[in-house]
Amino acid sequence: MTTLAILTAAGSGTRLGFDLPKALVPLRGLPLVLHAARRLTASGVVDALVVTAPNGLVSAMSDVLEHDPHVSVPVVVVAGGATRQSSVAAGLSRARADVDVVVVHDAARPLAPAAMIRRIVETVREGHQAVIPGLPVVDTIKLVAPRDPQRALPDGVDRVASTPERTLLRAVQTPQAFDRALLVRAHAAGAARARTEATAATDDASLVEALGEEVFVVPGHELAMKVTTARDFYYIEKLLTEEVR
Ligand code: CTP
Ligand code: MG
Repeated sequence: MTTLAILTAAGSGTRLGFDLPKALVPLRGLPLVLHAARRLTASGVVDALVVTAPNGLVSAMSDVLEHDPHVSVPVVVVAGGATRQSSVAAGLSRARADVDVVVVHDAARPLAPAAMIRRIVETVREGHQAVIPGLPVVDTIKLVAPRDPQRALPDGVDRVASTPERTLLRAVQTPQAFDRALLVRAHAAGAARARTEATAATDDASLVEALGEEVFVVPGHELAMKVTTARDFYYIEKLLTEEVR
């Protein structure tokens, strides 16, 4: 029984707008990727880490992770791909033969608590092959219709197609954990679709859903929020300060 965590850190952080790739931006002095790696290690259920780095930054990312006393599991850094999906696939291709559970986590979610990570992996080990964290949503969410060339609408105006029942919606986070064979199959099918449809999934669970396999949601956590914009960054800095107190 070996659990590998793939930590995606190959994005550029365009929406954050700092002059460093997002995973290397320091949060209270520590790069986001290091916060995430420490918490994966602290969960006690992760045996090894594969981290995806932006092209050209593989050795810079290794330097950050290699000598950290709190990251006590073996770490391999690989170059990511052009999309998150292809970065995860690059990480997955490095899984050793004995790995049976794979956790996929974003460096952009630096504070996901160790207890939450543990619970997700344990739920996979109890026999649920795909487990993801999710939080109820507070806003009413509308599905809008795809743009229709037959029905000209002004820029920025969309037609509502439907309103999903809010109590059944979840805002999904990472880490997401999977039976290794299932995730490999899901990525193979996803890569084949990406070749013809130019689509990339924004999470791994959706690739599993596309196979028709079940995915299970467990409670997410506010601390697992994603840093996307500068506002998120300042908010998470405050959460970290409160957590330390
Ligand atoms: N990611 C990745 N490889 C990519 C794109 C994204 O490994 N080609 C990772 C990011 O490093 C991040 C996670 O996927 O940890 C979620 O992506 P996102 O929040 O979109 O981060 P960025 O792509 O870096 O940000 P932006 O889209 O604003 O450029
Ligand atoms: Mg992105």
